[in-house]
Amino acid sequence: MSTPSPTPPPRLPLDCDPGHDDAIAIVVAARHTDLLGITTVAGNAPLERTTRNAIIIRDLLGIDVPVHTGAARPLVAEPKHADYVHGESGMDGADLPEPSGPPASTDAVGFIIDTCRAEEGVWLVPTGPLTNIALALRAAPDLADRIAGISLMGGGTFGNRTATAEFNIWADPEAAAAVFEYGGPLVMCGLQLTHTFQATPERIQRVRDIPGRLAGVLADLFEFFSGTYVSRHDNLRGAPVHDPCAVLALTHPQLFETYEAHVAVETRGRHTRGMTVIDQRRLLERPTSNCTVVDRIDADAGFAVIDEAIAHFSR
Ligand code: RIB
Ligand code: CA
Repeated sequence: MSTPSPTPPPRLPLDCDPGHDDAIAIVVAARHTDLLGITTVAGNAPLERTTRNAIIIRDLLGIDVPVHTGAARPLVAEPKHADYVHGESGMDGADLPEPSGPPASTDAVGFIIDTCRAEEGVWLVPTGPLTNIALALRAAPDLADRIAGISLMGGGTFGNRTATAEFNIWADPEAAAAVFEYGGPLVMCGLQLTHTFQATPERIQRVRDIPGRLAGVLADLFEFFSGTYVSRHDNLRGAPVHDPCAVLALTHPQLFETYEAHVAVETRGRHTRGMTVIDQRRLLERPTSNCTVVDRIDADAGFAVIDEAIAHFSR
């Protein structure tokens, strides 16, 4: 069954840049975690658009969760977006309602810090560029010892924005380097995982068959998202549904295979800036691991969790 497990759900703010797949991460987090808040960052689209999109998805779910806006630009890099994948709005392809109101605050970093200081054992789950997370860790180094860990979507053994760099890392490599060096538990859901978790036509149809407005909107978003990926790749039958993996890795660990490794973020390479350098050497004396690399997923079971979560909120 894919309904919430009896063990206490992870408590977390979701940091995101909606983004079609971020929207699905919000749905899964709302269903299977104690979702303390949603923080937004510039990434797939400018901050005002990712924030608007986060509020719209929150409203469609009918949940009482605050949205706080964060960084409008990376720590050092020039702002870059992904409208070629997500469209001008950051979430093109569906008839969306207007947002119900403004964000709760413009201080996502302060919200993250306060949330992690209010109680120990909070997870940070970023599914966009890591700017907000890096700023929070810089402003409050005590968070590293207070949080349960960071489960992120990003990086991988190959790139998508460049041959070597995945978008979330590439968009703000300095922030990513700070996160990968923070010293606490780190879970990385990278492209070698997410490209096996595709929104195929059959899976999109199953979402469309779910009654209610939310399911119809999400099916339309999946159609658009998959259209941009399938039209640009010769090996995909649907869009890799990247972001919910970072949530599912915490809520449904039994669906995944992982390994431990040292992972560093390249910030200077002419061809490799934004690359996650995963040390896969089988040395007897290997560098100390700083990361749990999520490597495989039971994709059918993972989509069953997504379908159930959508059905739970769709009416
Ligand atoms: O490279 C995939 C990542 O970039 C996902 O988080 C997607 O939403 C975009 O932000
Ligand atoms: Ca994202």
